[in-house]
Amino acid sequence: MELRALATQAAPGLVIANQPGMDFLRRFTGRDTTTDVLELLEAQHTEVDMLFAQIEQGEGNRRALLTELADKLAAHAAVEEKIFYPAVMAKETNTLLHESVEEHLAIKRVLADLIMRDLDDDTFKAKITVLKEQVSHHAHKEEEKKLFPLVKTAFSSDERAALGNEVLVMFEDLMMGAPHKSVPNETTEAAPLEAQS
Ligand SMILES: [Fe+2]
Ligand SMILES: [Fe+2]
Repeated sequence: MELRALATQAAPGLVIANQPGMDFLRRFTGRDTTTDVLELLEAQHTEVDMLFAQIEQGEGNRRALLTELADKLAAHAAVEEKIFYPAVMAKETNTLLHESVEEHLAIKRVLADLIMRDLDDDTFKAKITVLKEQVSHHAHKEEEKKLFPLVKTAFSSDERAALGNEVLVMFEDLMMGAPHKSVPNETTEAAPLEAQS
């Protein structure tokens, strides 16, 4: 199925303004009402960048910051794998999406190592640097530069808002628990990729 044909099947858009968790998005976009899925995912990338910077600068409690980073990375990966990637699976995006779930797998493996093991300082710093490079490449070079422009062209703003709402609801729901706990169980193989029916 082609991306454009798929886009026409998306649900009509809804706009929400005061959903919990919108504060960061509001600061990021400077607007009150948006759940464009691309802006939402990009704002989550930026939030993760900031957590990496805090950890690298030695600010605050390193273990608490790592848990927050791991929760946000785990919930972000889950909404992409379960909602966003299936929704945008098409002939044009197929290769990029398969690379994406493999990159998620590589990221989860390093993340699981960081969460589960008591590492000495040098090893911790080395693994955080490797994780940051992997996440940065995946989020900024693969998703924001290659995948998102394809989605922006093929989906209307209402369609992107409808997807954004779905993603936001699931993300907030996952964040009520401790999503990082599922990461060590997701390191064997990449998440399955299926087009949304
Ligand atoms: Fe991703
Ligand atoms: Fe992402």
